[in-house]
Parts: sequence; structure tokens; C-alpha cells
Amino acid sequence: MDIQLWREILDPYQLAVDELLVKFNHIITEHKNAGLYCPIEQVKGRVKSISSILEKLQRKNQNINELEEKIEDIAGIRILCQFVEDIDKVVTLIRNRNDMEIKSIKDYIANAKDSGYRSYHMIVYYEVNTIHGVKRLQAEIQIRTLAMDFWATVEHSLQYKYKQNIPDDIRERLSSAANALLVLDEEMSSVRDEIMDAQESYQAKETLVADILTNIQNLYKVANKREIVKIQDEFYKVYQAGDFDELCHFSKQLDIISEGYRAQSIS
Ligand code: GTP
Ligand code: MG
Repeated sequence: MDIQLWREILDPYQLAVDELLVKFNHIITEHKNAGLYCPIEQVKGRVKSISSILEKLQRKNQNINELEEKIEDIAGIRILCQFVEDIDKVVTLIRNRNDMEIKSIKDYIANAKDSGYRSYHMIVYYEVNTIHGVKRLQAEIQIRTLAMDFWATVEHSLQYKYKQNIPDDIRERLSSAANALLVLDEEMSSVRDEIMDAQESYQAKETLVADILTNIQNLYKVANKREIVKIQDEFYKVYQAGDFDELCHFSKQLDIISEGYRAQSIS
């Protein structure tokens, strides 16, 4: 096939990957801004390379004319979670969206592969707008924990090295590593509430401090120097005391001061 034709086929998939990355990353931002724990830890995406598309067509004995129907993972998104429980939350987030339609699901967490592979897969339909019009295409979303991803990454590179024929002893060790990671995921789940609490309060403080600093910076444009120095000193004092409620109180006071200046500047 013409190289130019490949570009025409793959470009919309690149757009889909780019858009989906923006959207999933924005879910992380929204949680942060709301001071909430986010079930998504990290998002990655890629468009399948021409050589792996060709390899897959050959492996599955499929015709190149049908590649867009048959190869469901030309656009690939991988969502990493801290805890197994987060995976369900991400699945629900995806189900509730109206910009993706779920075509099929493979739950290799409930049913791990013989290799030890664990992950939750969704094939979705997604629409992109290009200069040639609207195109509805397929994308594969893989959702897994950091531990599952660690295993899959290592195993994948070994598969590559041994061209699918991994020696038995290595296969066995991979399988026992998969079991160890299953136990690790379970152990982490058992302290999930503690970890989530810690992360949420850390995040809430980060957001609050960022708000306060923005507020002080804006005051530079309107307030007099002496007042700003006073406010800054007060901020450092409250910050060092380390009491979250006091910091909230300080932030509210600051809002009132800022609001006062804003009202003055409008009138
Ligand atoms: P592929 O032709 O391998 O894409 O399989 P498939 O289209 O029949 O679907 P499947 O859900 O089995 O696999 C989809 C993707 O999951 C693969 O492209 C890999 O990225 C990943 N995957 C599936 N099985 C394994 C595995 O045993 N090890 C690793 N490392 N990844 C796997
Ligand atoms: Mg696949």
C-alpha cells in the first residue's frame, strides 16, 4: 500500500489518541481541582505502527482492505490505576460518557490469561472530525493497575526477545511473579482507604495554597506594598503552623480582601 495512503488512514487515529489523552488527563485535573482522589493515576496513548499492523494482519490471516474493521487497536489508550478497585470506577466513568460507545469488553482481571496477564480491555467507537468530515473509528482502552502494567511491560519485552517462544523456566518465573503481584495488589487494596485519605488531604492543601498564592499575586496589582507585606507575613505564619483549618480561614479572609479591591476597581 502507498505510504501516502497509510498516512490518510492513520491520521484520524492520531487525532483520536490525542483527543482521548486530553480528555482522560482532564478527568485527573477535575479531581485535583475538586480535592478528590482520582481513580486514574496516569494515561498513555499510541497509534499502532505500520509494521505491527502488517504483522497482526498476517498473524490473524486478514485482508488489508478490512484493516480498519479487523484491527481494533490502531488507536490505543492505556489507563493506569493505583488500586484494583479504581478500575471499576474508570469503567463507570467511560460508560457514563456520551462521546464513546462501548463495542466489547475483555475482562482479564476476573479471568487472567494463562500467561498471568491481567488487565481490563474495552473496545470503543469514537468519532473524530477531520477536514474530510466526521469519522467513526475504533479504539482500544486498556485499564490496569501499576503492578499489572509492570508485569505486562516486562513480559512483553521477553515475548519480543524470544519471539513468542519464551523458555519454560522463564515462563514459570513470570507466572510466579504474576502471582506475587496479585498478592501485592490485594495488600495495597487493604490499605487503600488510608492511602486515599492521605492523598486527598495532601491534594486539598496543595490546591488551597495554590489559590492563596494566586490571590496574593493578584493583590500586587491593586493593593499597596505595606498591606501585601503584611498579608505575606501572615500567610507564612499560618502555613508554618501547619493547621489546615487555619489555612482555610486565612484563604477566606484573603478572598474577602480581594473581593473588596475588585468591587472598588469596578465602581
Ligand atoms: P492481540 O492480537 O495480541 O492484540 O490480541 P487480541 O486482539 O485477540 O486481543 P487481546 O485482548 O488478547 O489483546 C489485546 C492486547 O492486550 C495486546 O495487543 C497486548 O497489548 C495485550 N495483551 C494481551 N495478552 C497479553 C499477554 O499475555 N502479555 C502482554 N504483555 N500483553 C498482552
Ligand atoms: Mg488487540
